[in-house]
Amino acid sequence: MTAPLATAVRDQPMPEIAEPVIEVRNLSKRYGRNIVHQHLDFEVRRGEIVSIVGGSGSGKTTLVRQILGLERPSSGTIKVFGEDTSKIEPEEVRLMRSRYGMLFQQGALFSSLSVFDNIAQPLRELGKIPEDLLRDIVMLKLEMVGLPCKNASKMPAALSGGMIKRVGIARAIALEPELLFLDEPTAGLDPQASEEFVELISTLHRALGLTVVMVTHDLDTMVALSTRVAVLADRKVLVAAPVEEAAGVDHPFIREYFLGLRGRRALQALPPERRAKLPAAALEPASAEVQL
Ligand SMILES: Nc1ncnc2c1ncn2[C@@H]1O[C@H](COP(=O)(O)OP(=O)(O)OP(=O)(O)O)[C@@H](O)[C@H]1O
Ligand SMILES: [Mg+2]
Repeated sequence: MTAPLATAVRDQPMPEIAEPVIEVRNLSKRYGRNIVHQHLDFEVRRGEIVSIVGGSGSGKTTLVRQILGLERPSSGTIKVFGEDTSKIEPEEVRLMRSRYGMLFQQGALFSSLSVFDNIAQPLRELGKIPEDLLRDIVMLKLEMVGLPCKNASKMPAALSGGMIKRVGIARAIALEPELLFLDEPTAGLDPQASEEFVELISTLHRALGLTVVMVTHDLDTMVALSTRVAVLADRKVLVAAPVEEAAGVDHPFIREYFLGLRGRRALQALPPERRAKLPAAALEPASAEVQL
């Protein structure tokens, strides 16, 4: 399915990479004796799509939760849109929240609300919006994520996994955020639905000039979308660079993740000029290994 919006922005240039919108400096986070982050630095600039990758338990979700203000750092500073999140006034929190959208891992729609009411929920929370305007906004968001209007009255239980993700995105962009967070957005989707998801994010990135921060295990999605990849290992961001550069860092996690069979296969999707910058080990044929 190709949405009209995708066609409209296909030839539009990528948003320019501009000022930092997230600045994490010397962050430490511990739970009791468990030190999750130590001396962690991380930056995201406007217009980027940054993927956060790392082993299970390396602290990807915890990092995002701290940036969103859902967890407090043990020490260090986090600035979002230039504001120190620990010093922000309660009345500013609402305004700040309207500047970012979040798609949680499970899609997290309200199962008792229709598609329409799920998407309308952040708008209704914001305050009084006339019903006819609300309707127009919800229908526009549905169209933006490539879902026909007839789905508005459906309940979440009647949707496919890919449709749930689309509704989740429609809700996350309801307030026209500048920054979009996605936690494992393609988990549970089949390859076709994952590809459609990649196209959707790529379209919204161009159309809205969105900045995207995405936690993902999905190598194909990561390679297709990321302007940079941040690798979490040893309690910090080991490297944050275009994937062809990150793959060349000498570290056990990077060798296993990027240079294993699946990693090498995914890296083949890079355009030739970026493939040329990959380390030699990434270019070994992905089919040479014995398939078990
Ligand atoms: N609320 C909490 N209380 C105590 N420990 C926690 C809490 N949240 C996370 N942790 C611990 O912090 C570490 C990092 O967890 P986190 O969920 O950030 O990992 P992750 O990289 O997102 O892993 P996954 O890929 O499995 O989702 C883990 O050791 C986890 O047990
Ligand atoms: Mg996680």
